Amino acid sequence: MSRIAFAPAKINLFLHVGAPGGDGYHPLCSLMAFADVGDRVVLHEADSLSVRVHGPFGGMLAGEGDNLVLRAARALLARARGPQPLVGLSLEKLLPVAAGLGGGSSDAGAALRLMRAALGVQVDDVELEAIAASLGADGAACLWGRPVLAQGRGELLTPAPQMPTIEAVLVNPRVEVSTPAVYRAFDALGEFGDVAPPPMPAAFESVEELAAWLGMMRNDLQVPAVGLAPEVGDVLATLSEERETLIARMSGSGATCFAICASDIEADALAARVDALRPDWWTVRCRLGGPWPDA
Ligand code: C5P
Repeated sequence: MSRIAFAPAKINLFLHVGAPGGDGYHPLCSLMAFADVGDRVVLHEADSLSVRVHGPFGGMLAGEGDNLVLRAARALLARARGPQPLVGLSLEKLLPVAAGLGGGSSDAGAALRLMRAALGVQVDDVELEAIAASLGADGAACLWGRPVLAQGRGELLTPAPQMPTIEAVLVNPRVEVSTPAVYRAFDALGEFGDVAPPPMPAAFESVEELAAWLGMMRNDLQVPAVGLAPEVGDVLATLSEERETLIARMSGSGATCFAICASDIEADALAARVDALRPDWWTVRCRLGGPWPDA
């Protein structure tokens, strides 16, 4: 019985955002991949359902009693028959919070997969995905951690084209960015993107081909995010100046940015240089693709 689940960082390789609908939500079109770095969710015996948060970024969630993991666990247990199992969860928070990495959604997805498997809750994949989607726009995509094209609010998923595993570097300037605030700034600019899926090959044969194609795509939230958090612009400028960077872009609503490199050696070199230049930033070497194993 699995007792541990991996909650990968979500990366929006591109993110096109349209004008908001009547409900205030924005239609989007995004190619999402998942990193082999992320949080960890562990199931253990407990007197009552609770979530213990620890890890380097755990303190940033400590005040939030009702985090997404707890909401996911409660939603799943509401569908369980019989006496409530005496379990708790611990969340090792290795990803920065409010960072454009879908961390909360990914943690919730990991908790849902883990509890369904470990406790034998009779919920099929479609229902599990609906629970995940009810917790946030990225919830459904983050539940499975497979590369996908996401549309609608982010909940309509189709498989991504075949891609090589991407050698990458993630950089966060240790600034928290509020997603609703970035969307409000995006609305204020009034420059809405086209959210029709762009023509896409069935497969990208090389990372160079993928990076060149991504260069024609955008993250429509990047300009408003830089307006709110100029540090995002510093990260993008730093990554773009380095010769190993094939493409640098912000993920989600920021502030984390990613750089794609041609090889593992180049990505190692880029991560080391950025870390030396800006030891105050969170800089992590990773691979993008997915799904990644739990243990
Ligand atoms: O669903 P989630 O909690 O991730 O969304 C956070 C906020 O981001 C929403 O409250 C909304 O302001 C904004 N959002 C949006 N359109 C989307 C996704 C998120 O306006 N497609």
